[in-house]
Amino acid sequence: MKKVLVTGGAGYIGAHTAVELIEAGYEVVIVDDFSKSDRTLLEGIEAVTSRKVNFFQGDCGDEAFLKGVFEWAGPFAAVMHFAAYKSVGESVEKPLDYYRNNLGSLISLLKTMKVFGVTNLIFSSSCTVYGQPDTIPVDEATPFKRAESPYGATKQMCERILEDAYSRGYRVISLRYFNPIGAHPSALLGELPVGTPNNLVPFITQTAAGIREKLTVFGDDYDTPDGTCVRDFIHVVDLAQGHLKALEYLSAVPAGDLCEVFNLGTGEGVSVLQLINKFVETTHVKVPYSIGPRRSGDVEKTYGNVSKANRILQWKARFSVEESLFHAWNWEKKIRDIKN
Ligand code: UD1
Repeated sequence: MKKVLVTGGAGYIGAHTAVELIEAGYEVVIVDDFSKSDRTLLEGIEAVTSRKVNFFQGDCGDEAFLKGVFEWAGPFAAVMHFAAYKSVGESVEKPLDYYRNNLGSLISLLKTMKVFGVTNLIFSSSCTVYGQPDTIPVDEATPFKRAESPYGATKQMCERILEDAYSRGYRVISLRYFNPIGAHPSALLGELPVGTPNNLVPFITQTAAGIREKLTVFGDDYDTPDGTCVRDFIHVVDLAQGHLKALEYLSAVPAGDLCEVFNLGTGEGVSVLQLINKFVETTHVKVPYSIGPRRSGDVEKTYGNVSKANRILQWKARFSVEESLFHAWNWEKKIRDIKN
């Protein structure tokens, strides 16, 4: 059985991907420092898969810790690196923390992989690398614009680090996610933001649950059909399955060089207001909101051209935005113990 190291596996995307890996027959080892997560999603992985999770708590920026994990739990056929800070707004407030954490953990991981002869890496990148693109949809050949936030800059820099690592013998796939939303259809696993959510969908579900008084829509004066930002919202399980396809592709390509990037999205643009309305229509639960000022670091509109992943990885997003919102709401109801 092939063993895969999943960094940040107690986080939202990492945990959903761990489930898909385990269900596909991989042995998964998770590391997480719980700086933006806790044990809840590890328990969720165990509940969905009925398997005990092999877990180590620590910081991926700490090479001594990583060395211990590789020694004790390896050898790994591949690493999936999810561990990173991901809040656009927080990155504007604390840019140096973002550079140190997101770049430092990748560098430590690459060095440790080298020591243990592990070459295969799948990296969590983001559509944020494109900045505010001139034309949409964006495909993988779209040149990077200046990143709108330090968070975006860390993802651009990490991709550059990986290009350089590739020339030193690593085999790398960077997956550029659009906006992951939703939860596992079982409602045993979902997004669990620490404190007040930064991302739109957890804010919507918490407002619907009565935890937040109202949602603020950040700006309605953008150059979009209804004035609010446009995003490509992708179900987190579709995204997780994209990682599995990337791993299969990485394994199928014969030994030697590989450095690829793939967009993972639905290819559809949905505005913030459209998303709120879809949530209300799907769940029949009200979401009070008001229009506020623009948020610093936001991109006006983006959605992906995902034909490269469709063609080469044989992957396609399957869930609709409505299904994603329905699953997100089921998860919120479950963790808040809301009946119907
Ligand atoms: C950004 C990145 C995305 C990354 C994510 C990680 C871009 C284009 N996208 O997503 O790749 O995975 O950060 O956090 O850089 N909004 C509100 N009110 C709220 C919250 C959000 O109106 O309370 C709006 C935002 O202004 C934005 C949209 O909802 O227009 C989506 O925001 P969010 O869910 O935070 O994700 P992005 O910032 O798009």
